[in-house]
Amino acid sequence: MIRIAIIGYGYWGPNLVRNFYNTPNCSVALVVDSRQDRLDLVTKNFPATRTSTDINDALTGSDIDAVVIATPTATHYQLAKTALANGKHVLVEKPMAKSVQEAEDMIATAEKANKLLMVDHTFLYTGAVKKMKELIDNGDVGDINYFDSTRINLGLFQPDINVLWDLAPHDISILFYLIPARPVSVSATGISHTPNGLENVAYLTVNYDSAHIAHFSCSWSSPVKIRKILIGGTKKMIMFDDVEPSEKVKVYDTGYSVKSDEDKRRLLIDYRVGDIYIPKLDQKEALSGMAADFIGSITKGGTPVSNYKIGLEVVKVLEAAQESISNKGKEVMIKY
Ligand SMILES: NC(=O)c1ccc[n+]([C@@H]2O[C@H](COP(=O)([O-])OP(=O)(O)OC[C@H]3O[C@@H](n4cnc5c(N)ncnc54)[C@H](O)[C@@H]3O)[C@@H](O)[C@H]2O)c1
Repeated sequence: MIRIAIIGYGYWGPNLVRNFYNTPNCSVALVVDSRQDRLDLVTKNFPATRTSTDINDALTGSDIDAVVIATPTATHYQLAKTALANGKHVLVEKPMAKSVQEAEDMIATAEKANKLLMVDHTFLYTGAVKKMKELIDNGDVGDINYFDSTRINLGLFQPDINVLWDLAPHDISILFYLIPARPVSVSATGISHTPNGLENVAYLTVNYDSAHIAHFSCSWSSPVKIRKILIGGTKKMIMFDDVEPSEKVKVYDTGYSVKSDEDKRRLLIDYRVGDIYIPKLDQKEALSGMAADFIGSITKGGTPVSNYKIGLEVVKVLEAAQESISNKGKEVMIKY
């Protein structure tokens, strides 16, 4: 039985508590938040669960095996590092940290302590993403030409991070999970309409040294909510529309082929517009799969789907994007 402490019972923490509560081989032993009014809610919903405003109860408590961190991004590094150094397994919310240096130090601490460090990129556990992975891996989609995501709505302006750091981790983690090739560089632009200078609208392009490109459009300033990913393959094209209640993934038998011509300046394109297939998706709540993966990876060993390597790659892209935004869209190489 893995005894876990969950730190942070704000917007996302309650979802984690609820899902870990229903996960086998673990018990939610403690919930920590600096705000007593949030802890009162825990007691109301889970009377048997201990609560505390003292962070050390979670980070150093001898009755805690694993810590789940659901606090703002700026706090992830210090909390995770202290918990790992005190022999706890750690699940940290996305984005893993606010810099590559912090993320790499967290990984080094986890390896030294021989403890599991995992990042909650929840989307990797959705039925839609699992289905898209299956379609791509078994060759149905062909070679991937592009990945184009739009995640915009009238969103909650975050006080500490810009819109890319807030929203793009979802889509960047999906990109890395579906297409494991390493990108070479990024270019990004963004704009802030608030005095704190944090961008509330941003556009990010991720470049590869192959015929593949990825693009991300993120905004907290849209009148409509759009959550769409388009994936263009040489055999099929996929649309993932997360706003759709049921038919979230559509597979288009749409494509084109370029005919060779003696005169190279003339483009001869053959278009194909075929059937649309709507696959059946696993309806299980993604967070329950994520929680089970964390506990299973501790008890049985193995690497979780949403592992720290994906977490680090996401932070690398975000950090490079930030540098590019500060330099008006200049291409920034990703360091490996
Ligand atoms: N995986 C997902 O889909 C998903 C969705 C939303 C948010 N998140 C992530 O979850 C994290 C938290 O986001 P949120 O929207 O719930 O934030 P929030 O501000 O609503 O809640 C954070 C809570 O942590 C508490 N807190 C902050 N610092 C603390 C500290 N040092 N010790 C104890 N308590 C502390 C605050 O009092 C607050 O109740 C972020 O990293 C965010 O990116 C992930």
